[in-house]
This record gives sequence, C-alpha cells and structure tokens, in this order.
Amino acid sequence: MRLLQEQAPPGNRMTQETQIVLGLETSCDETAAAVVRREPNGAVEVLSSVIASQIAAHAPFGGVVPEIAARAHVESIDGITAQALGEAGLGFDGLTGIAATAGPGLVGGVMVGLSFGKAIALARGLPLVAVNHLEGHAVSARLAADVGYPFLLLLVSGGHCQLLAVEDVGACKRLGSTIDDAAGEAFDKIAKVLGLPYPGGPALEALAQTGDPDRFVLPRMLLGRKDCDFSFSGLKTAAARIAEGLTTEAMRADLAAAVQKAIAAQLAERSDRAMAAFALSKAHDGLRFVVAGGVAANQTVRDKLRATAEARGFAFTAPPLVYCTDNAAMIALAGAERLALGMSDPLDAPARPRWPLDHIAAATNPTHVPGRKGAKA
Ligand code: KG4
Ligand code: ZN
Repeated sequence: MRLLQEQAPPGNRMTQETQIVLGLETSCDETAAAVVRREPNGAVEVLSSVIASQIAAHAPFGGVVPEIAARAHVESIDGITAQALGEAGLGFDGLTGIAATAGPGLVGGVMVGLSFGKAIALARGLPLVAVNHLEGHAVSARLAADVGYPFLLLLVSGGHCQLLAVEDVGACKRLGSTIDDAAGEAFDKIAKVLGLPYPGGPALEALAQTGDPDRFVLPRMLLGRKDCDFSFSGLKTAAARIAEGLTTEAMRADLAAAVQKAIAAQLAERSDRAMAAFALSKAHDGLRFVVAGGVAANQTVRDKLRATAEARGFAFTAPPLVYCTDNAAMIALAGAERLALGMSDPLDAPARPRWPLDHIAAATNPTHVPGRKGAKA
C-alpha cells in the first residue's frame, strides 16, 4: 500500500533528515507492523502496513481476552515484522528508527511490541520512540492527507472518546472526554444485546443499513450541556431495554439504525461545541476538524461530522478506513515526527496501561471518578 502526500512540517521547525521508521502496534487485538518514510519537507509515504487481526481468537468470548491477545502477539510479531520489511523492500539496515506503542492499552500486549522494538533498537543501534497509541490515532489523518497543525481532533475508538486541540507534535489540549463509556464501547455493548458478533461496531453498522432510524426514540444524553463531554451509558441502558422486547429482524435493524443515529448525533453535537471554542481560540485561517479511531470508520458518523464541520466553516478530514482502526503506520508516523524533531526514548521506557495525551487536564479535571480500575483516559 503506497500513499504519497505533501504536507506541512509540524510548526515552523524544518528538519533535515529523511526518516524511515518501523512501527509496531500491539496494544489491543491487532498485531501490526508498518514501514513509513517521512521526508524533511513533511511528505509521507507508507511503504508497507501489515495487520494481523485476532478477531477469530476472541470471537468465542464476545470480546478481547487480554491473555489470549498477549500470547497471539508473541506468536505473530516477528512474522508480521518480516512481512512489513519485505513489502517495503528493506532490511533492518534500511531503517532510521523504531516506533513501538508503549500504551495506553492491554499491558501484556503492549509489552510484547515494546520489548520487540527495544530488542531491534538495541541490536541495530537505532533510536526508539515509545509511542502513545492515542498520538498515533491523532496523526493517522496525516498518513494520507495534507493536515497541518493545529487541528481539532475527535478521537473515537473502543477505549477512548475525546475532543483534543492538537497544537503540534505531542502537544494536545483536551476539550472534552467521555464521563462513562467510549463511543466504540457503546457500539460494542449494544451490538452484543442485539445478538451481533464481536467486534460489534461494524456488525451494528451492517444491520442498520436496512433499518428505520426513527422508529425507536432514544435518549439524547447531555444535550444542551455547555461543556464538550460525552456520555453513552443512558443510551446503552435504553437500547438494551428495547432490545429485550424485539421479535423480528426488521425491528432489530430499526434499533441498530436508531442507535447509530443517536451516537452520531451526540458526537456531532459535542464536536460542534468544541469547534466553536477552538475557532474562538485560533485567530487564523484554515480551521480543520479531524476524526480518528475505529468509530471513524462508521459512515453515518463520518457523514454527520462532515456536515457539522462544514456548517462551522471547518475543513473535514477522516483517515482512509484502513487507518481508522488500529494499525502500525500511524505509530510509525508518530515516531517519525518525533525523530525528525530529535526526540527519542530510552530503552527502559515503560509500558503504560494508562497514558493520557493531555496530562494536565487528566490530573486537574478527571472526567472519570477513578474506580477500581482507575480513570480510563
Ligand atoms: O481504534 P480501534 O481499532 O481500537 C481502539 O483503540 O479502541 O477501535 C475499535 C472500536 C471498536 O469499538 C469497534 O466496534 C469500533 O471501533 N468500530 C466501529 C466500526 N468499525 C470499528 N464502530 C462503528 N462502526 C464501524 N464501522
Ligand atoms: Zn486504537
């Protein structure tokens, strides 16, 4: 897979060297490796992007089993890496750096990719970047489009639902976050009560194709609230209650369509608020809204967000579908952008189950009251 785009270098800082980076992604249920070249002028080329999905291994359990995931990563990481290098036509000596996801995610899996990346870095004398998986999603739109900093980002995946002002490489300010479930989690849980297979989001989207989104009325959570936070638990409960009484396939399709519409509406309504705040704080032309993460693969969500952004005068960018869900090309690019600025990490960089992009907001204004498992984002 080859995509070539010219794009502005981050900020005004010109960098001098071409980066050819091996990216490794093992934070959830996909083992992925990719090679990305980034030129000093910011042009990006994806030389290879290989993803081994573990869906079949987790499907019988209806969700991701961390121990199974970690073992599957161990079994496939070397083969996937060899394939990525082979498709890029390179050996380790053709690389200028290694970028491995270091969190947030299932820590057993994160440790597999990070340790593997450290071993290559040590053996080959290459710099290592311990990449925040969310920073990978944040730069994913830059893999295939000219998206300069700053931009407003809606990051919607299975574990995260946040609005972030992305100012520069590694410089994010959180404008809003979920106070309960992530949007992908809501898709997955409602899909489960509808009897759909894991992963639920794509299955629910397929079922919704034939449904009438207006047959069932679902609650519009947080509507009119002045901040940019999200909440999906009320929707989940209401949908589960309706699902119990459904008797036909057509009714299930109607509920799926209503759920999809409600999630898209909430994402758009909260994003609209964030756009208003972002536009006020940015006295420059070229406002841009980017959606990334697995839920950005949903067409209804994309369409609704595009319409909302354009009504606010924002350019809208969503990554190609293959870069919405977890992949290693986004990790390689996040690493390449840091290496181009002279940033790298020591070989004892830790694997981090939780790792917020905006440390200050996470510490001073946690949207989750930490429970037994702590705050999510
Ligand atoms: O970004 P991702 O691959 O992994 C995380 O970092 O979480 O996102 C996975 C999430 C899952 O919840 C999945 O159900 C959801 O993205 N998803 C979708 C679609 N494709 C993936 N949700 C709705 N519609 C889709 N087409
Ligand atoms: Zn992800």
